[in-house]
Amino acid sequence: MTDAIGYERIGDIAVLKAQNPPVNALGYDVRVGLMEGIARAEDEGAKAVLIYGEGNTYFAGADIREFGQPPKSPGLPEVCDRIEASPLLVVSSMHGTALGGGLEVALSTHYRIAVPTARVGLPEVLLGILPGAGGTQRLPRVAGVEAALDLITTGRHIRADEALKLGIIDRIEDGAPREIGLAYTKELLDQNAPRRPVSEMEAPEPVDFDAVHDSVLKKGRGQISPATAVRAVQAATELPFAEGMKRERELFMELMNTDQRQGLIHAFFSERAVSKLPELKGVEPRRLAAIGVIGGGTMGAGIATAALLSGLTVTLLEMSPEAAEAAKGRIKGNLQGALKRGKIDQANFETLTEKSLTLATDYDALKDADLVIEAVFEEMDVKKKVFTQLDAVCKPGAVLATNTSYLDVNEIAAMTKRPQDVIGLHFFSPAHVMKLLEVVVADETAPDVVATGFALGKRLGKISVRAGVCDGFIGNRILSTYRTAADHMILDGASPYQIDKALEDFGFAMGPFAVADLAGLDIGWAVRKRKRAEGLDPRARDSAYADKLCEDGHFGQKTGKGYYDYAAGPRSRVPNPDVMPLIEAERAEQGITPREFTDEEIVRRYMAAMVNESAKVVGEGIARRPLDVDMTLLFGYGFPRYRGGPLKWADLEGLPGLLDDIRSWAKEDPYFWEPAPLLEKLVAEGRTFDDLNKEAAA
Ligand code: CAA
Repeated sequence: MTDAIGYERIGDIAVLKAQNPPVNALGYDVRVGLMEGIARAEDEGAKAVLIYGEGNTYFAGADIREFGQPPKSPGLPEVCDRIEASPLLVVSSMHGTALGGGLEVALSTHYRIAVPTARVGLPEVLLGILPGAGGTQRLPRVAGVEAALDLITTGRHIRADEALKLGIIDRIEDGAPREIGLAYTKELLDQNAPRRPVSEMEAPEPVDFDAVHDSVLKKGRGQISPATAVRAVQAATELPFAEGMKRERELFMELMNTDQRQGLIHAFFSERAVSKLPELKGVEPRRLAAIGVIGGGTMGAGIATAALLSGLTVTLLEMSPEAAEAAKGRIKGNLQGALKRGKIDQANFETLTEKSLTLATDYDALKDADLVIEAVFEEMDVKKKVFTQLDAVCKPGAVLATNTSYLDVNEIAAMTKRPQDVIGLHFFSPAHVMKLLEVVVADETAPDVVATGFALGKRLGKISVRAGVCDGFIGNRILSTYRTAADHMILDGASPYQIDKALEDFGFAMGPFAVADLAGLDIGWAVRKRKRAEGLDPRARDSAYADKLCEDGHFGQKTGKGYYDYAAGPRSRVPNPDVMPLIEAERAEQGITPREFTDEEIVRRYMAAMVNESAKVVGEGIARRPLDVDMTLLFGYGFPRYRGGPLKWADLEGLPGLLDDIRSWAKEDPYFWEPAPLLEKLVAEGRTFDDLNKEAAA
């Protein structure tokens, strides 16, 4: 037998224990072990088999690392069929997370018991596939079509009590999985309980599958796995079990061969790799209990809210008692949202707002803080004054962080006598909701300060990405380039509405002009003014139509008008009729004859600009690995997860073709389309961005 499955005999019961840390994934050895274990139990004359997992969990699913490699027999469907067909009584005892293939194994056993904290689910669609070991055929037979469609198309995990109600598990019992499993199996044997193969249960009643398919497809914004899974569940209602299994397999294999599957699995592993930095191995973060936040606007209040929700105490510094009270009002508003969603209760709400939060107007109040984050006005002189004051009052070893989105963290750190303690912590608005945190490491930032930045990110539930210092760090620097590509296309003949639609069809949550309206057009205006003041490169194309919108007081959603008109509310946008005349006037002024753009060309140019700048960001070491860029765009900029991130998309699209396009556009605009040296190098060497990720992990 393989070591992945332990075998033990307790009276009439053969006990199979999964021992494949960390999550008992159903890799090849585990599958072989299960086959052998069942056969041995039968050979030895056992009456029943109990299956459970060692460590933190029952099987958490198929081994995702095996996806895309040549399949090795026995496959999981075969293992599940073998378990179900055994003449012995087979029982699962579940704890931790029985997910995907894990739940499919459980559904092929005849009875299921779980501890109260266990969670179950079929999250395959989140990896771009569907349950491929009978989940789409067995779950509807056990729990009904409606529940099965809900679980399979959303991939959500449910708690043991909900699973009990749905009939997915038969009993909940507190205790060690081995002991509760043994007791339950003995009880079943004593009662002469019959085997209960789900495949022999009646086919479930159908629903209007076309309607469900269409609504799931729409919700997925281009993601195909949930809608494909609907068709597999449909097969459970229309075909005999064995035929349904065949249909499930066909659909599973179709999805397995898609770019979306590759994109989603890249996202799964990158999300976990992003905060693992070799340089931080063994580096202890500094103490984090009390933090200070300077500035209580939308950003500061959001950061304070996130910190309070994570159990930190917060001192919020504002310029006046009135401003501090207003900030408290914003924080309370945010926490009320958490209260409504059931994340906290009323007692928590009172504690967080009245005990954990202190308002202050004097820097002295920050003298005991372990970490202070400033979220004041985005202007260098203002930030410098803040850091001079922090240097004067903060205790030695306190981490001093700036939430700047563009400014030079080295210049800010130089205002203090402790640049080693200074770091950038770039949150995204609203900071208590958005998952991304850029941890910006300046020249002299100490490793344990970097580790503290990551520790804070983890505590706040963020995806933290290490970034180096440059104008805009990783995310905003790349954003500024692809936004410029969009602006160029507008000058040349596309409209903001065509661009937004093309990119939303590509899978972005919102197109760039709708995003600009949401963020506030004044933000981009301020950046443009600053860049012009610093001096634009004479070769750069510039445009002023967006400034004119701002000059007329149109800042987007917050003023009711921007690229769109929001008269009927923030969700119902219609093109603002003032915009196209401004654009047309600018084209005329610049002597440009507008041309047609196809949606395909819009996406290609926008994405190529994004990839080219991303390659520069990686090549210059601002991002350490391509996956750091991918996760930044995914978690901070609405990039479609099923495409994995811009550099994963580029790998799948083919780097040589992209470079060819960039070179051909460089003939018209050599300044903007200057190819990234890293992209040229990868193409010359026949390698991909993912090769760089793999080298970094090795
Ligand atoms: N296969 C391979 N590795 C896996 C894995 C899997 N199914 N699930 C988790 N891991 C790895 C993670 O990559 C991580 O590795 P590193 O330590 O090297 O980064 C390690 O196990 C621990 O995982 P987490 O850090 O995520 O630990 P956690 O305790 O926060 O969460 C979990 C545990 C809830 C199980 C979470 O890992 C998870 O959601 N895993 C994926 C579950 C899943 O999607 N299962 C379905 C698989 S597809 C399937 O089963 C197809 C089918 O029908 C045949």
